[in-house]
Amino acid sequence: MNNYIEKMNGLKIEIEDKLNNVLSSKELNELKVTYLSKKGPIGELSSLMKDLSIDEKKEFGKVLNEFKDGINALFDSKKEEIESLELAKKIDAEKIDVTLPSTKIPIGSSNILERVVEEFEEVFMSMGYDVVDGPEIEEDKYNFELLGLPKGHPARDAQDTFYVKGDELLMRSHTSPVQARVMTSKNGEEPVRVICPGKAYRRDDDDATHSHQFTQVEGLIVDKNIKLSDLKGTVTVICKHLFGSDTVTRFRPSYYQFTEPSVEMDISCFNCKGKGCNICKNTGWITIGGAGVVHYDVLKGCGYDPNIWSGFAFGFGAERCAMLKYGINDIRIFYNTDLRELKAFDRREG
Ligand code: DAH
Repeated sequence: MNNYIEKMNGLKIEIEDKLNNVLSSKELNELKVTYLSKKGPIGELSSLMKDLSIDEKKEFGKVLNEFKDGINALFDSKKEEIESLELAKKIDAEKIDVTLPSTKIPIGSSNILERVVEEFEEVFMSMGYDVVDGPEIEEDKYNFELLGLPKGHPARDAQDTFYVKGDELLMRSHTSPVQARVMTSKNGEEPVRVICPGKAYRRDDDDATHSHQFTQVEGLIVDKNIKLSDLKGTVTVICKHLFGSDTVTRFRPSYYQFTEPSVEMDISCFNCKGKGCNICKNTGWITIGGAGVVHYDVLKGCGYDPNIWSGFAFGFGAERCAMLKYGINDIRIFYNTDLRELKAFDRREG
């Protein structure tokens, strides 16, 4: 018996010693398995019981249980100590230093071209126009034929078109096909008042002032008694709204196959107010698009009786307008997503 008690005392010292060096819950668990599992040294002691007499068993059982309780208590108190240490460490690691500078998250900015298009939409909508959409991959019929440009017409060459499939399907070379689409959808019976902002494509060189992809804001009105003077009035109101109330408009005779008469729309140079500078190439005027009275044949081809109905149409170059508005000299900037550049325009706008 004494022999066993001695062994127990020795084990206790050994365990206390090892527990002193334990630093984590993991180590503590490992130690527990080593000493308290059935195959461990304490388990072995229990297995000695079978060789003892009944009286000895009683006494030894009592001593062994007290010993086990003592060892368990040692493990429990170590467990508590380690857990509170680990918790303190965790809290320490998660501490937030409110004095540290914050991480700046850059705020996005809308594209300037988009902004100009939205301004066009807003002002036209306030005048009762609907904003409509059309396909960018277009049929030859709408892009050319219905607009007075039959196959083989020399003016088609000026539009340097990208063909998608044979000579019937193409990337629209202007937004004017939407006019033909809207008119043909009305069966010649309803007035039309729409604008269509959208992309158009031409095989232009990718230099600072040209891009193979560009944006136009097309417009069309069809009703009774629509005259060139209505076009002038409308465009003048729009330009004053977009470019400032002191903007003056000018309409120069021009030629488009789908309008008669046709005009080129100019505005007084916002920079020199008409005196002449390098932005307006010393002319005092800047061209912002084409327009005209809808051609007799176009109305007819799209199902309207030209003796009853008349209309005007226009096409603004949106990049041109945005470049003027924000003083940009490189068209490629519009297709950039560099926040620093976009931010610069935010500042310019004040
Ligand atoms: N589609 C013409 C172009 O791309 C612009 C234009 C001129 C549109 C006259 C019109 C218009 O609606 O009436 O150059």
